[in-house]
Amino acid sequence: MTDAARQFIQPLTFAALTGHKVITSLWPQLDSEGSDGNTDSSIEHIAEAQWADALVVAPATAGILAKFAHGMADDFLTTMYLATTAPVLVAPAMNVNMWEHPATQANLELLRQRGVRVIEPDAGALACGMVGPGRMAEPEFIANSVLNALGRSHDLAGEVVLITAGGTREALDPVRFLGNRSSGKMCYALAEAAQSRGAKVILVSGPSALYPPAHCELVKVTTADEMRAAVLGRMPDATLVIKSAAVADYRPSVVADQKLKRTGPLTVELLPTEDILAEVVRQRKPGQLIVGFAAETENRLENGRAKLLRKGVDAIVVNDVSREGVGFDSDRNGATFLTANTATDLPEMSKRKLADRILDEVVGLRRPQSLLVELSGAEPQAQVSEDPEAEVFVAGAGSRRQIIIE
Ligand code: CTP
Repeated sequence: MTDAARQFIQPLTFAALTGHKVITSLWPQLDSEGSDGNTDSSIEHIAEAQWADALVVAPATAGILAKFAHGMADDFLTTMYLATTAPVLVAPAMNVNMWEHPATQANLELLRQRGVRVIEPDAGALACGMVGPGRMAEPEFIANSVLNALGRSHDLAGEVVLITAGGTREALDPVRFLGNRSSGKMCYALAEAAQSRGAKVILVSGPSALYPPAHCELVKVTTADEMRAAVLGRMPDATLVIKSAAVADYRPSVVADQKLKRTGPLTVELLPTEDILAEVVRQRKPGQLIVGFAAETENRLENGRAKLLRKGVDAIVVNDVSREGVGFDSDRNGATFLTANTATDLPEMSKRKLADRILDEVVGLRRPQSLLVELSGAEPQAQVSEDPEAEVFVAGAGSRRQIIIE
């Protein structure tokens, strides 16, 4: 946030709403008002400039447009603007006379010539009491312009995506539980990506320290049983189910009422939990896509393919959870996207980028409904071939078969 922005709204508000830190100064030390600039180093503007997919200034004042146009770099935002190679979008908002002033219009022309996308302000009643152009474009319009600039469309518009997230916890006594190392970062990144591509997102999440994306429907659960009930309850609304949660495979057969005392060796009997994904597949409706995840430590592709066929899902995202520096609790991950007859390598990248790559693959699974014939129960009677060169082949597994005609 620039100094001018902070005259209108507190950084804390943005931090609370977005779940991200707010940078207010170029320097890591205290700024003139005694507040911490929230930068980790004096070159963070360079790091942020390289990391960002797009730089969006909304609202953009006449002052910031002038600084951008003339390369004045005297704060975090203006230095970042010069340092970034990502698309830049500005959504001006100002008094009508300031907007129409030849200096502002000349600056805008310079910026346009340099590739900056100017999201024209709307006309109407302005904060200063005047009427005319100068009102910032509607946020929805700005968001769509950003997606267009990134070459992304709302390709999941109309989809209701049910995503499971985090790990589940199975109580042993009132203070202890059996859990796993899942942080939920990959799943929350998927929720954010799906939502930014126009989907309505229902996020069924085990305990996680993360903020869910604004506007998604969050259903908080703790145990595998609670997750099962939440998923099956919301499934009829979903058009796409992504089972990315690390569900506990076992739960203690008995949960002690009181805290267990340390009296020597302890043997705990564990019972398997319900396989939620298998149940989701059994209850699927025609047209619902189901994507599973597989955490593997060895023979990733063989185990992943076997899991795909055993579970009868449309696709499975195979993670190698034994690799150092990616996966659990990291911001980076790599995976392989497996379908019945394809394996797409998604090399290590940020989890947010990986989420979009996974969704790109999922979107590719959607085929024109008229070309898809579903047969449940009995084996298909039609003459079919598994030959990838043939024009007709069978996908899917178990009691459900799809004949896809290409
Ligand atoms: N899964 C589930 N319910 C369970 C266990 C797993 O829905 N009780 C789902 C996970 O969300 C994931 C997929 O099944 O989408 C595969 O999870 P994974 O732990 O890799 O496989 P398991 O089925 O547990 O098999 P195994 O542990 O033997 O590899």
